[in-house]
Amino acid sequence: MVEQQEVITLLSRRELDKMRQAGSLAARLLDYLEPLVKPGVSTLEINDAAEAWTQNHDAKSAPLGYPGAVDPFPKSLCTSVNEVVCHGIPSADQILRDGDIINVDVTPIVDGYHGDTSRTFLVGTPSPLAKKLVEVTEECMWRGIQAVKPGARVGDIGAAIQAYAEAEGFSVVRDFVGHGVHRIFHTAPQIPHYGVAGKGKKFRKGMVFTIEPMINVGTYEVEVLADGWTALTADRKLSAQFEHTIAVTEDGVEVLTLAPSKVAA
Ligand code: MF3
Ligand code: CO
Ligand code: CO
Repeated sequence: MVEQQEVITLLSRRELDKMRQAGSLAARLLDYLEPLVKPGVSTLEINDAAEAWTQNHDAKSAPLGYPGAVDPFPKSLCTSVNEVVCHGIPSADQILRDGDIINVDVTPIVDGYHGDTSRTFLVGTPSPLAKKLVEVTEECMWRGIQAVKPGARVGDIGAAIQAYAEAEGFSVVRDFVGHGVHRIFHTAPQIPHYGVAGKGKKFRKGMVFTIEPMINVGTYEVEVLADGWTALTADRKLSAQFEHTIAVTEDGVEVLTLAPSKVAA
């Protein structure tokens, strides 16, 4: 996404607490949506359920009206099915079918702070290849997260993700990257999901950003539709994505968008 500032903000303890609240609400929203994701449901129904839940929790949906190259984003979350890499627009015409994979990407704003997280869900019983893609993509995200600690560098994330994805026979999308996130939805630093270990900016305590690898079965090249949002794989093969918002701590990393069930474990 577009970088809006060069300087990387280091968040105060108070601001990190706000990010924890936004992150936890985002995770709870995905937990709430997960059981709705099944064959026969439209992506607009998922959107509308999310919008109502978000309003009931005194939050706002950051994607709704978010500025883009052509038009503002028209819905409250992104639903990216099968060959859609990211930024799929929910629609009444798009009915989920057995065997689909769908990434649901939510970003509630709580008290001015953004919690940005996504998961790829299986609809019914996808092919073994689709399942493997989803598993490898989630593991890519975790390997990226584990590369983060003070003194390590941005390139360490991409190197870890790229090595694993390519060893499994998949490719890493270049055109969309992770991003700083706090009061601003998309800001510095940019976090590529490919790259070279030891290169790039050093992590410092208080940095907050997303790690959100998009991993493709075929080529990493994408094509964006005339709506200015929907990004598809150039070869129309499958793509998957997972995303967490994380903070750099004294000695490692805190995942701000963990599901409550996982925090308790
Ligand atoms: N949540 C997406 C991200 O991870 C951004 C969506 S912008 C939107 O960065 F406008 F498409 F919603
Ligand atoms: Co997101
Ligand atoms: Co993001």
